[in-house]
Amino acid sequence: MARRKKIYEGKAKILYEGPEPGTIVQYFKDDATAFNAEKMEVIDGKGVLNNLLSEYFMNGLNTIGVPTHFIRRLNMREQLVKNCEIIPLEVIVRNFAAGTLSKRLGIEEGTQLPRPIVEYCYKDDALGDPLVSEEHIAAFGWASQQDMDDVLSLALRVNDFMSGVMLAVGIRLVDFKIEIGRIFDGDFQRLVIADEISPDSCRLWDIETGRKLDKDVFRRDLGNLTDAYAEVATRLGVMPKNSPQVTKPTLIN
Ligand code: TYD
Repeated sequence: MARRKKIYEGKAKILYEGPEPGTIVQYFKDDATAFNAEKMEVIDGKGVLNNLLSEYFMNGLNTIGVPTHFIRRLNMREQLVKNCEIIPLEVIVRNFAAGTLSKRLGIEEGTQLPRPIVEYCYKDDALGDPLVSEEHIAAFGWASQQDMDDVLSLALRVNDFMSGVMLAVGIRLVDFKIEIGRIFDGDFQRLVIADEISPDSCRLWDIETGRKLDKDVFRRDLGNLTDAYAEVATRLGVMPKNSPQVTKPTLIN
């Protein structure tokens, strides 16, 4: 069997060369990292859940006409996506104050924001993904003004879609991060939602109890991360209620 070519290994995923030109295989690992990889752990089953959840969100976005890089899921850990050039920005959309926004501005976590706030961080682990303004983005040529108009409109559409999907299953979308890629088609460039959309990159709170169902469970040692992600997957119908545990294989005597 031919060995496939690894293109890149990140904190939560590995990218391999895809079967056709212009495609990539995204492999979801079980590794969890936080605080710029200062905290690290392997969490059984996390990769499988994120693969299924990201498929669900990306499919939904494609269906309502928000373009994404997603082509199809290949198996429990891998999905086929379009190769794109990632704009080096973490695009964050916030509906309620939490995390660094609360720290930076002294706003109590959970406070509803007057309108969705979009922030940009420059993707650079060595610098700790610093917050940047559109002035920095334009001056350093990370994206054009036209790109940024499109990025903002894509981010707000993803926010409306994700907020609605979550609300329907009793979950509040507090904030999330997306990455945007460029796909070239001859002389034209199209922007698409890339990377992943999963509880690793969202804040999701149960509407009734406020219970956290996202990576803060790991960041803040609040319990079992796989249980939290499985709860989201179950509510969305992505994981059948009585499916065998995604974590460890069961021994049959
Ligand atoms: P933020 O509150 O800025 O940072 P932190 O998660 O370190 O407190 O994060 C806002 C949202 O964006 C949150 O849901 C996590 C997500 N996010 C990422 O997934 N990766 C990132 O590199 C950043 C900066 C944010």
